[in-house]
Amino acid sequence: MRTVFIAGAGTDVGKTWVAAGLISALRAEGASVDAFKLIASGYDPARPEDSDAAVLLAALGRAPTPEAIEDICPLRFIEPLSPPAAARREGVTLSLADLVSRCRQRMAAAATEVLLIEGAGGVMSPVTDDATVLDVIVAARTPTVLVGGSYLGAISHILTAADVLASRGVKLEAVVVSESLAPAPDFDETLRDISRLLKDSTVVGVRRDDPRPLTGLARRILGASLSSERA
Ligand SMILES: Nc1ncnc2c1ncn2[C@@H]1O[C@H](COP(=O)(O)OP(=O)(O)O)[C@@H](O)[C@H]1O
Ligand SMILES: [Mg+2]
Repeated sequence: MRTVFIAGAGTDVGKTWVAAGLISALRAEGASVDAFKLIASGYDPARPEDSDAAVLLAALGRAPTPEAIEDICPLRFIEPLSPPAAARREGVTLSLADLVSRCRQRMAAAATEVLLIEGAGGVMSPVTDDATVLDVIVAARTPTVLVGGSYLGAISHILTAADVLASRGVKLEAVVVSESLAPAPDFDETLRDISRLLKDSTVVGVRRDDPRPLTGLARRILGASLSSERA
């Protein structure tokens, strides 16, 4: 079993869209996949179908029943704030040990070939009063796919996130640049610039509504999983 953490260079950059595309690509390659959403804020209980959990479930071919939503994303908070701030509004204090243990339990229990864990916000978005998504990734030791956008300013966000992941010893599986809505600079040029600046990383570009480049990443993940099982 191989776990891949889907982290963001920021919020709303395409983590869920890329995770769903990757799930579909992995399934099309014949792999079994499960997914987990670490924590969600801005969750509207009246509209579960709009949640990240529902998008991930749809890609997994599962209906967004209350049980399925609870299973894929047990920590959901209503206010559209950072997770610890949203949790605070509901009288809940989040702890790093609990978040890491949820990831570990999920990894240990996974009966699939691949488990994708979607983070919340960006790499250093807070998930507790004194820890960020990065601390969860480091503690869970999961290879990571970094997702960023292509809006003006995205290059710095992506490079900063990639640098901090590397500095904490996280294995960067790939960087996925998900095309931002207009107005955004030329996508191919942005992709070339990012690839040049991140020359040791695999950089995958996905245009709006075209997840096809994620097939290559799915194959890479499965290839790595086979070789790590043989090792
Ligand atoms: N490459 C893309 N093509 C089409 N829609 C996209 C793409 N990337 C992101 N989106 C859309 O942009 C919005 C934000 O993306 P989302 O995956 O929810 O971001 P995040 O999970 O990082 O917060 C969603 O409506 C999503 O469907
Ligand atoms: Mg998301």
